[in-house]
This record gives sequence, C-alpha cells and structure tokens, in this order.
Amino acid sequence: MATQVKVAVLIGSLRKESFSRKLALALIAIGSEPREFEVVEIGDLPLYNEDFEPNPPPAVVTFRQRIAACEALLFVTPEYNRSVPGVLKNAIDVGSRPYGKSVWAHKPGAVVSISPGVLSAFGANHHLRQSMVFLDVPMMQQPEAYIGNAKALFDDKGVLTNDSTREFLRKFLQAFARWIGRNPAH
Ligand SMILES: Cc1cc2nc3c(=O)[nH]c(=O)nc-3n(C[C@H](O)[C@H](O)[C@H](O)COP(=O)(O)O)c2cc1C
Repeated sequence: MATQVKVAVLIGSLRKESFSRKLALALIAIGSEPREFEVVEIGDLPLYNEDFEPNPPPAVVTFRQRIAACEALLFVTPEYNRSVPGVLKNAIDVGSRPYGKSVWAHKPGAVVSISPGVLSAFGANHHLRQSMVFLDVPMMQQPEAYIGNAKALFDDKGVLTNDSTREFLRKFLQAFARWIGRNPAH
C-alpha cells in the first residue's frame, strides 16, 4: 500500500480531558502505517441545516475540504446514551451533504470506541457502523476495537500507560493499514 495515505481522525468528544482524544493521540503516536494522520476537528461546526446549502458557512466548507483531502477515516468515539454523541453525528451529517456530494463515500474506515464503563461504547461503535453502511464507507470489521475501563489506562498527563492496550492498538493499526490497502479510496 502507499505509505503516504492521509487518515482523517475524527474524535467524538469536545471535552478537554476527553478519554477519546487521549486515545486518538495514543493511536497517532503509535503510528505504524499509514503514517499520516490528521485530526479533523468537529467542535466548530454548526448544527446541520439544509437551508445553508446554497451558501454554506466557512466552517462547513473547510470541514468538507479537509475530509475530501483524506484517503481514510479513523473514528474514535465515546458513547452517549448508547449511541454516537450528537457532535459526531452532526459532523457525519455535515459531510454527507449536499446529496450526491458526500465527502465520506468510498474511503476505508475504522472505529475505536471507548468508555469508562465495561460495555466499552459498543452501542456507539455499531450505530456509527450503521451510518457508514449508508454512506458507502467500507468499515474494517476485524479486529473490532472496544476499549473499556478508560480511567485506568492513562496517566495524569493523558499518556496511555497500559501496555496490553498499546499492543492491541498497534495490531489494530496494522490491520487498518492492510484494510486501506485492500479498499483504496476512489
Ligand atoms: C450525555 C452523556 C451520555 C452518556 N451515555 C453513556 C453511555 O450510553 N454509555 C457509556 O458507556 N457512557 C456514557 N456516558 C459516559 C461517557 O462514557 C463518559 O462521560 C466519557 O468520559 C465520555 O467520553 P470522553 O472522555 O471522550 O469525553 C455518557 C456521558 C454523557 C455526558
């Protein structure tokens, strides 16, 4: 596979001390192929409103351009009420329109869900996959990545200190690199 595939990293939490963000940064630090990751922020997007399509706000235009410029998608998300947090769903909706011009389609994707609890945000992980089916994003199926017990994984500086989780993430990224190679963006 090409080593310079650019991967958009989308984080489903705006919280300063977000475990999802810490996990996303740990994934980026672990690196492995594909090496180029870009966190595409979603917190400044307006709530999606189809009325703005004739003249979309600058944050919407920039977001769509940044996703369009990437060749793969990595979602790192917590779970809100057994689903994807609204802020991430909003970003997905923003990128999906105008109809027929979705920036998501045909980019290989993967999701890591994380929770302080033991269910590891399984509901968010699978609701996200449901949207990606419709958006024609081939999502990596294995290994699935459900990270639970988040409070025990990071030190007080937010660095991932759990060796088995890091080893799992390394294998996850290697599998994602192979997935990207088999499902190149088009
Ligand atoms: C509105 C709301 C709903 C939540 N619902 C769930 C849930 O369904 N499942 C779960 O595991 N945690 C739930 N939580 C707890 C989150 O997992 C926890 O706040 C987590 O730290 C959020 O992710 P972050 O650290 O990346 O911000 C919820 C939190 C909030 C604020």
